[in-house]
Amino acid sequence: MNVKQHTTHGRPGTEGARLDHVGLNEAITGAAFGGRRRRVYARIAALSGARPADRVLDIGCGGGYLTRLLAAAVGPAGQVTGVDPAAGAVRHAQRRAPANCSYLVGVAQDLDLPDRSFDVVTSTLATHHIPEAELAAAFSEMFRVLRPGGTLLAADFRPPARRHTPHALATRNRHGSAIPLEDLAAATRFRLDAHGELPLLRYIRATRPPAT
Ligand SMILES: C[S@@+](CC[C@H](N)C(=O)[O-])C[C@H]1O[C@@H](n2cnc3c(N)ncnc32)[C@H](O)[C@@H]1O
Repeated sequence: MNVKQHTTHGRPGTEGARLDHVGLNEAITGAAFGGRRRRVYARIAALSGARPADRVLDIGCGGGYLTRLLAAAVGPAGQVTGVDPAAGAVRHAQRRAPANCSYLVGVAQDLDLPDRSFDVVTSTLATHHIPEAELAAAFSEMFRVLRPGGTLLAADFRPPARRHTPHALATRNRHGSAIPLEDLAAATRFRLDAHGELPLLRYIRATRPPAT
């Protein structure tokens, strides 16, 4: 495992809300899921379709919780890469990572990664951190780094049933509403395969069409 530093090109101040208190965030996220986080994230890993020997990228990986589940899914012949702008979160992930995980400091909208280099891209609870003006670029980057036929699994807060719940506040904090994952994927030429809800989350699964 290793950590690579990446400086974003251009547009200073567009990196989004970096997670600089990763331990606190891990505790808050765990509490928000009320003991169900492992089950929900294991479901996300399964929904992503990650299989043994796959190359997987997790965008906005935070402390690496999902990367560790994905690492088990892809096995020793596979490789999981986590990317996050918060160097502290990346260091936290690195300390806990199995041998088939590596990490990169960087942002979703400007990935320092080659074209068509991943079978699966995942992103959980990160799109609401990305500045609204950068969301289209972030989805373009997801498309670019996926191989044709590769899968995107993106999940973020679903619209809350009651507007005053804590996760309603988190959802509204940056964008004022739930992230339009389907619209962003469709605008980027992804083919939408599925969408659904999990505790606290809604997700989409989309494919980069084989002939692109
Ligand atoms: C709430 S945490 C989610 C972490 C992890 N994916 C999870 O599900 O627990 C959101 C993460 O998005 C990261 N982030 C903020 N701006 C970002 C950007 N422009 N691109 C990628 N990640 C970003 C933050 O640093 C943070 O680690």
